[in-house]
Amino acid sequence: MSETVMYPCNFVIFGATGNLASNKLIPALYRLEQAKRLPENLTFIAFGRRVWDDKMWREHVMALLHDKILDRGAEDVCARFVARFNYLQGELGEVESYQRLKEDLGKPKAGVCSNVIFYLAIKPTDFSSVIKNLDKSGLSKPRGMHRIVVEKPFGEDIESAQYLNELLHRHFDEQQIFRIDHYLGKETVQNLLVFRFANTLIEPLWNRNFIDHVQITVAETVGIENRADYYDKSGALRDMLQNHLMQLLTVVAMEPPPALEADALRDEKVKVLRSIRPIPRRSVHAHAFRAQYAPGAIEGAAVQGYQQESGVEPNSITETFVAAKFYIDNWRWRGVPFYLRTGKRLADQTSMIALRFRHPPQQLFRETPLETIDPNWIVLSIQPEESMRMEIQVKQPGLDMDTRMMQLNASYRQTHEAPLDAYETLLLDVIEGDRTLFIRFDEVEWAWRVVDPIIKYWAQERDFIHTYRAGSWGPQEANRLFDSEDQEWRNAL
Ligand code: BG6
Repeated sequence: MSETVMYPCNFVIFGATGNLASNKLIPALYRLEQAKRLPENLTFIAFGRRVWDDKMWREHVMALLHDKILDRGAEDVCARFVARFNYLQGELGEVESYQRLKEDLGKPKAGVCSNVIFYLAIKPTDFSSVIKNLDKSGLSKPRGMHRIVVEKPFGEDIESAQYLNELLHRHFDEQQIFRIDHYLGKETVQNLLVFRFANTLIEPLWNRNFIDHVQITVAETVGIENRADYYDKSGALRDMLQNHLMQLLTVVAMEPPPALEADALRDEKVKVLRSIRPIPRRSVHAHAFRAQYAPGAIEGAAVQGYQQESGVEPNSITETFVAAKFYIDNWRWRGVPFYLRTGKRLADQTSMIALRFRHPPQQLFRETPLETIDPNWIVLSIQPEESMRMEIQVKQPGLDMDTRMMQLNASYRQTHEAPLDAYETLLLDVIEGDRTLFIRFDEVEWAWRVVDPIIKYWAQERDFIHTYRAGSWGPQEANRLFDSEDQEWRNAL
């Protein structure tokens, strides 16, 4: 149950001058303004370290929007949008800054408002100090509605996640906590539920009887941008696999929920995570592989290696590439390997879920010139292309009984339908109090439990990491995860 939405409301963005706010939150909020979805009495307080005032902040937002998205003729929307903002210069670790925030929240400009949303767009290491300072300054218990939005990764291992959760619960009720994983806000990810559960054609095949293995790839060409401070302590396993890729895995593998309700969906996702076979310590090498990018080239331009990035510790062994294999020991999936892979500075910017089907039980066409027949695939491309693809065998026209592979392609969006950023959906849900696409703590906890043996094992192996050339598909050694010789990474749609 979500709280009733009451306005006026203040939306406080901690980390307003950071990467996430600039790249995702502000553009998404602007789009909501443009779509007339922001309530009239909603005001924003940008909390940042830079010594700026309201005017400087608004100029910064204007410049950012002009750079990123501002459409022609949208100046009035932009003016309306920036007028909603006030800037508060403060330090996350200083309680005095929160006292000033409290005063600001009481000012008439901010709507004499006791309804507040706190958005923690900050490094995970700062979460607990913000939560404690909100409490010390009396901000965690305002008179009206209040919500807190926590970005991933939620903790850095199972123990720290439990601690963070307990801390949050000291000051906020569960229905006030929004744990975000923006992959769930992507339309193509939501479409996976529709694809699976609204089509009778698909569901009977979606199991161990027909599927040989599943691959989930999130490949990025970008490096770590200016985030060494966060990334060097985190790495690809914590930054991407424990959350985004695990969420994709649960949506691929879950059973149909009894209803499309927040808790019913989460219950099914948790069941999947609980069914993942624990990785024994002695088998970590067979289940997980990590590597780091070395200098190389992306789209023809030379790029430096991870260790040369500004802010990265010399000789850091933080992984920028991770591949892992999991088994889900339930009736539907037992024995089907799920291969997950993600990395920075890879050859292509692409996210996809690929399901390879088993070979037909009878090789009827073995005597034809074709040695072996390619198995069927279903490939769901999440981004940048948003499509569904099925690969099937057909007869090759001609006198001989040859087969060839044919692709059935469906693009998810029609040309006149504008793409929607995941943050637009999720921010609107926060404002409206809908928690369906947010993560419950037991999901976070089970996802940590799954990767915990890998984290612990890697923490002890501190002196070596494989490397790969920036702009490649990662090291060959990642292939050692495959169960059989006819399995290999699928890099292209
Ligand atoms: C973030 C990670 O959660 O997701 C980043 O911290 C990553 O490292 C980003 O680049 C990828 O998101 P998207 O939506 O661009 O695939």
